Amino acid sequence: MECHEYGAEHANFDRSQHNVNDVSCIACHSTHQAKEPQFLLVEKQPQLCFGCHTDAKQDFSRPFRHRVEQGLVSCTDCHNQHGSSQTKLLRATASQDQVCFKCHADKAGPFAFEHEPVKTEGCSACHQPHGSTNPRMLKRSQINLLCLECHTLTVDSAAPAIPTFHNQSQKYQACTLCHVTVHGSNFDRMLFK
Ligand code: HEC
Ligand code: HEC
Ligand code: HEC
Ligand code: HEC
Ligand code: HEC
Ligand code: HEC
Ligand code: HEC
Repeated sequence: MECHEYGAEHANFDRSQHNVNDVSCIACHSTHQAKEPQFLLVEKQPQLCFGCHTDAKQDFSRPFRHRVEQGLVSCTDCHNQHGSSQTKLLRATASQDQVCFKCHADKAGPFAFEHEPVKTEGCSACHQPHGSTNPRMLKRSQINLLCLECHTLTVDSAAPAIPTFHNQSQKYQACTLCHVTVHGSNFDRMLFK
């Protein structure tokens, strides 16, 4: 740290979950016998991280996932392994999801008509950021089940109740067929376009 505490990348190492749990520089770097010449790593990503994080390995072997195995996205795009001021060693807050906007800028808004949970609860309200057994890395197997968790038929929840006519026909099951812009819209309060 005497030489490497020069910028934001390393500034939080002392309080990182890695340092606190005795995962030091040399767990990941080797000054003399690095397998990977770049950054003197003992192993390249994601194998380096999977060596200790077997749960994450499982997440990323699910059918719908960020393709870290193929090198399209890496662990350190979202996490700062050297320490972060955010939870889960994230590079930016989970609630504001700046970490996701780096690549999914179209979801950042601001939109004239926000879909509130995207802003208040963040992407993880509906998605599993590592990977999922459901298409689009969604938390639920069917989109309507996801929507119905917050939008009920009664008005006792924080989200607006579903109009009763939705209950009268099967065609209202596929929510995003009509409410297309679930991440926010510049045109329509009902998220139709
Ligand atoms: C949990 C594993 C891990 C630990 C612990 C770790 N590093 Fe790293 N470090 C990496 C990885 C992975 C990269 C390459 C990141 C990339 O590919 O962008 C890296 C990159 C670097 C770099 C080059 C990039 C930069 O930011 O300048 C330096 C220097 C560095 N680490 C120093 C250290 C020092 C010093 C420590 C201990 C105080 C440390 N690392 C602890 C995994 C680790
Ligand atoms: C030598 C073992 C080891 C390696 C290699 C390692 N980690 Fe960790 N990591 C740990 C331990 C131990 C913890 C703290 C306990 C825990 O949360 O699992 C931790 C914590 C974390 C956390 C915070 C978890 C939380 O719940 O807050 C993240 C994120 C993380 N590591 C990412 C990475 C990434 C990314 C890499 C690869 C660049 C990596 N780790 C490499 C051992 C390791
Ligand atoms: C697309 C961004 C992204 C990538 C890529 C990513 N993570 Fe994560 N990771 C997250 C987010 C967001 C969370 C916090 C999830 C939450 O709090 O609900 C998280 C949580 C974690 C945790 C804490 C335990 C948990 O599951 O909540 C660990 C450990 C972890 N990640 C390790 C890794 C490793 C290892 C890799 C690479 C193999 C990786 N992550 C790649 C975004 C990412
Ligand atoms: C470093 C760039 C990067 C970051 C950061 C990133 N993503 Fe991605 N994401 C991608 C790429 C590339 C794909 C396309 C994956 C593919 O085709 O395999 C993708 C795909 C997705 C998909 C699935 C899209 C589909 O059509 O099935 C979702 C959902 C998603 N990301 C959510 C997130 C969330 C949530 C975060 C923040 C926790 C995040 N992403 C952070 C690059 C990124
Ligand atoms: C209220 C739930 C919800 C939240 C919160 C949410 N999403 Fe989504 N997202 C969805 C649904 C539902 C789909 C699938 C839409 C479809 O297939 O018609 C989706 C699809 C996607 C896709 C793939 C299709 C596309 O539009 O590009 C990406 C990428 C994505 N989301 C990223 C994000 C990011 C990044 C965030 C956080 C800023 C986020 N999502 C927050 C519900 C949500
Ligand atoms: C995590 C909870 C949550 C989830 C999941 C969720 N919503 Fe929402 N939704 C809300 C909240 C809260 C509002 C904001 C109401 C307001 O602005 O007063 C809202 C607003 C809306 C609106 C605008 C209604 C209005 O009167 O402004 C529509 C349409 C909508 N959601 C459809 C959906 C669809 C379709 C899904 C599934 C893809 C979904 N929502 C998933 C919480 C949620
Ligand atoms: C066939 C098209 C269609 C489908 C599919 C559909 N909706 Fe709607 N939705 C509408 C229409 C039309 C309105 C009323 C718009 C208005 O009042 O201006 C509406 C309104 C809403 C509202 C706003 C209620 C309010 O008072 O603010 C919510 C929330 C909503 N729908 C949720 C859902 C959910 C959840 C699903 C899936 C279970 C769904 N919708 C499926 C067409 C549809």
